[in-house]
Amino acid sequence: MQKIKKIIQEHQAKIGVLGLGYVGLPLALEFARKGFSVTGFDVDPRRVQSLMKGQSYVLDVESSFLKEMISAGRFTARQTFEDLSAQHAVIICVPTPLRKSRDPDVSYILAAGEQVHKRLKAGQLIILESTTYPGTTQELLLPLFEKNGFRVGRDFYLAFSPERVDPGNRVYKIRNTPKVVGGVTPACTEMAALLYGQVVEKVIPVSSTEAAEMVKLLENTFRAVNIGLINEIALMCHRLGLNVWEIVEAASSKPFGFMSFYPGPGLGGHCIPIDPHYLAWKMKALNFEPRFIELAGVINSSMPRHVVQRLSEIMNQRGRALKGSRLFLLGVAYKKDVSDHRESPALDVMKLLLESGAEIAYHDPFVPSVSLGKEHFSSQKLTEKALRSADCAVILTGHSNLDYKWVVKKARLVFDTRNATQAMKSPNLLRL
Ligand SMILES: NC(=O)c1ccc[n+]([C@@H]2O[C@H](COP(=O)([O-])OP(=O)(O)OC[C@H]3O[C@@H](n4cnc5c(N)ncnc54)[C@H](O)[C@@H]3O)[C@@H](O)[C@H]2O)c1
Repeated sequence: MQKIKKIIQEHQAKIGVLGLGYVGLPLALEFARKGFSVTGFDVDPRRVQSLMKGQSYVLDVESSFLKEMISAGRFTARQTFEDLSAQHAVIICVPTPLRKSRDPDVSYILAAGEQVHKRLKAGQLIILESTTYPGTTQELLLPLFEKNGFRVGRDFYLAFSPERVDPGNRVYKIRNTPKVVGGVTPACTEMAALLYGQVVEKVIPVSSTEAAEMVKLLENTFRAVNIGLINEIALMCHRLGLNVWEIVEAASSKPFGFMSFYPGPGLGGHCIPIDPHYLAWKMKALNFEPRFIELAGVINSSMPRHVVQRLSEIMNQRGRALKGSRLFLLGVAYKKDVSDHRESPALDVMKLLLESGAEIAYHDPFVPSVSLGKEHFSSQKLTEKALRSADCAVILTGHSNLDYKWVVKKARLVFDTRNATQAMKSPNLLRL
């Protein structure tokens, strides 16, 4: 153990990162920045090729920095897994989606675990970062690695550490976001904490892998439930003829006991709409009904339909049916300033609008194209002509680099679901 600790402290440890997506790639490069020799492994040949050409596909990772790390010999990407055995530490950052049945799909974790198991070497530290239900590390990975005849905490180390990356956040990056770690044994926690301590300012050890897994689910369930609450408050405010954003802003002046959440067209991304279902699934297996998660899910997933219903009312009030109306959608990414449109509520809004017979086009500076089943859409230029020829411009993502003042001035009508237009006033501007 002392030998591996020394290798880590001297930044001589070889680090393998399995899964080079939104989570794995920034993490791999953070270790490379600190002088570690990092190998990224991914099953997607296009991603590996792109990285080896020095082209980053993750907004938070600059291609110039990627190139610098490749030239310095500190980062390389591989599509094959032989080199896993040469790594002192392996961090697993593969996807954890839901199946169609809304049950956890842990097949990526199992596949990655299998790759590690085949090449496990004495002294290796394995850390799972993929968000998952409490128990995964011990129930799925531990038995796999112990098949090799190794004993955890003595012959190899196993821990869970939730990823807290917030894509597009300019203030909180890997370095200044505290990292929670929980190992199968105290030695595992110590080793994982030592490793992350080389790249993050603060490490928070917890008592077990299950505790670390639960921390992440609490964080994301907290967000899902509070967003559900504020979305319901938005529906109430609409009925009461109140501006929900004015209410939130005024409430946020309370210096204690209140935290601002904002309504919108629904939940999106790879985390908040999905992670609480991992917890719900686990709890249902234990005969526990997770009521808050269920209710938040119902409210949040009703928001795209509410947006379309509002648009229908708005067009109706102007003597138009939604069918045949031309709508220019601004933003399809799941949140502002990112290109990620997985699970984006904008896609649900688009589907519902198409079903209603509306004609739609979109502009998103970060998302060049989207597919909805067989239909493909490309981002249109945001021009005066595009705005003037639409019956209504609908703001679905409030990207910071759009000039909303100009949009309100030029568009015939604007429906803002994100309060991107903030304090602007115009008879042609309506909010959620
Ligand atoms: N994106 C976020 O903001 C975020 C934040 C916190 C936590 N997470 C969690 O982190 C995990 C990864 O998320 P992501 O957004 O980086 O996903 P992603 O889809 O962007 O990247 C995952 C990568 O893993 C690769 N992969 C799949 N199977 C593999 C295997 N067997 N071996 C090697 N590579 C494999 C995929 O090709 C892909 O490149 C998920 O559990 C997610 O819930 C994501």
